[in-house]
Amino acid sequence: MVIAALVITTLLSGVLASFLLKARDKDFAHEKTSLESLDTNEELRVLSCVYGARCARGELSLISSLSGSHGASKPFTPLLMHLVPLPKKRKSELLYHEHGEDVHVEEDFGTNESLMINDSIDSFAKDSKILIQQVKLVTQMVSMHEEICNATEDLRVNIVFLPFHKHQRIDGKTTNDGEHFRQMNRNVLRHAPCSVGIFVDRNITGFQQPHGFGSVQEVAVLFFGGPDDREALSLCKWFANNTLIHLTIIQFVPEDSQPESPIRNATTPDSGDLLIEVRGRNQTEHEADRSLLEEFHNRFVSIGQVGFIEKRVANGPHTLTVLREIGEMYQLFVVGKSRGDCPMTVRMKDWEECPELGTVGDFFASSLDVNASVLVVQKQRHSHDNFIDD
Ligand SMILES: *[C@@H]1O[C@H](CO)[C@@H](O)[C@H](O)[C@H]1NC(C)=O
Ligand SMILES: *[C@@H]1O[C@H](CO)[C@@H](O)[C@H](O)[C@H]1NC(C)=O
Ligand SMILES: *[C@@H]1O[C@H](CO)[C@@H](O)[C@H](O)[C@H]1NC(C)=O
Ligand SMILES: *[C@@H]1O[C@H](CO)[C@@H](O)[C@H](O)[C@H]1NC(C)=O
Ligand SMILES: *[C@@H]1O[C@H](CO)[C@@H](O)[C@H](O)[C@H]1NC(C)=O
Ligand SMILES: *[C@@H]1O[C@H](CO)[C@@H](O)[C@H](O)[C@H]1NC(C)=O
Ligand SMILES: *[C@@H]1O[C@H](CO)[C@@H](O)[C@H](O)[C@H]1NC(C)=O
Ligand SMILES: *[C@@H]1O[C@H](CO)[C@@H](O)[C@H](O)[C@H]1NC(C)=O
Repeated sequence: MVIAALVITTLLSGVLASFLLKARDKDFAHEKTSLESLDTNEELRVLSCVYGARCARGELSLISSLSGSHGASKPFTPLLMHLVPLPKKRKSELLYHEHGEDVHVEEDFGTNESLMINDSIDSFAKDSKILIQQVKLVTQMVSMHEEICNATEDLRVNIVFLPFHKHQRIDGKTTNDGEHFRQMNRNVLRHAPCSVGIFVDRNITGFQQPHGFGSVQEVAVLFFGGPDDREALSLCKWFANNTLIHLTIIQFVPEDSQPESPIRNATTPDSGDLLIEVRGRNQTEHEADRSLLEEFHNRFVSIGQVGFIEKRVANGPHTLTVLREIGEMYQLFVVGKSRGDCPMTVRMKDWEECPELGTVGDFFASSLDVNASVLVVQKQRHSHDNFIDD
């Protein structure tokens, strides 16, 4: 017997339409969902999954940042999904027997958290004028990831955010929310038909919802190269216009590569530069990296809206040193998950506490010296079957 119920709490016509369009758009959707191919004047649809009011508040600050500055009306559709794990098969069977057919799962599971999440969303909507559609997912833990992945297709989201399975307590220490949530995250990373962001929320020492005057948040996006890093950088297009966020791109380049300025006018012919081989990555990838950096330069860096820093590193340990140096300077790091066998991160593996975050994300999430929040981004994998996973 399948005990799964998807209760749509707030269902706007847009969602309804999306269900109808689903079948027609399915093939097309795979190409369209990556953020790299999405422009800021196209609709951005994000799904934030939360299992409590605490992570809801954290993800609301992300939503608020992505939505841009107050008053700016952009095609932006944030959805929030409350995950309610059913405890045990037998228990829920009992429940159905006792109450008969019209049992209200909602009344028995996660009600308190739902109320608190509702409160957070209500006060958020008042402050920000951003309407968030709510979805509630009540299911057993074993099929949670599958339901989430299916929902991302039905709701046609570009990226799904999941909370990291550990959270920071008021005293600054870290608490584990449970290995089953970690396993769920891993499964979503493995199967999601869209991009995935794992959010390590350190709201006490790190990133906080930018509001009011004078509370500008320093955000850094680290760029080594590869599809995941490009997706992370592409997500930051939606941060760039927010006056309460100061975004800096930090590009890591191999120390022994020839000096080449990656930031230049796109109109400048640079076929000579493209012949320079970067170890560990092939020409196509390198070109894609460069053209994205160029786009950022032309749109944001050249007009001073976004900062740009280049770091030359020799190897993994050297990169670690740099990461420690910059760790204190930003409230949020946005990083791509994997980058194949990139020589700049290859010997950082000592960390290996949460390999699902990739080497750099794992360092920031696990290091006790880092106070910043972290958002680890994985690009949707469907068109990258041969991409090396670390
Ligand atoms: C961080 O989250 C905790 C738990 O939800 C909350 O009590 C606290 O007010 C938050 N702190 C900040 C600075 O937002
Ligand atoms: C949860 O709700 C129950 C009643 O529905 C209430 O007795 C209890 O105090 C609530 N717990 C919290 C933490 O709000
Ligand atoms: C949350 O709020 C919506 C409307 O704001 C309401 O329809 C829904 O019943 C609320 N859910 C809970 C669990 O209170
Ligand atoms: C998810 O979707 C697939 C294909 O549409 C379906 O076979 C599967 O049963 C769905 N899973 C759940 C848990 O609904
Ligand atoms: C930034 O804001 C301006 C005006 O508010 C708008 O024209 C522009 O499209 C926005 N850019 C992005 C990337 O959102
Ligand atoms: C980029 O192009 C603009 C206008 O086309 C020009 O003023 C500027 O000097 C160029 N910069 C570089 C570095 O070539
Ligand atoms: C280079 O990368 C592209 C895209 O990632 C891939 O299709 C191609 O097979 C790769 N070529 C080699 C020689 O690895
Ligand atoms: C992290 O924050 C704590 C408390 O605010 C501070 O004492 C510590 O020096 C910070 N560490 C780093 C590496 O910034």
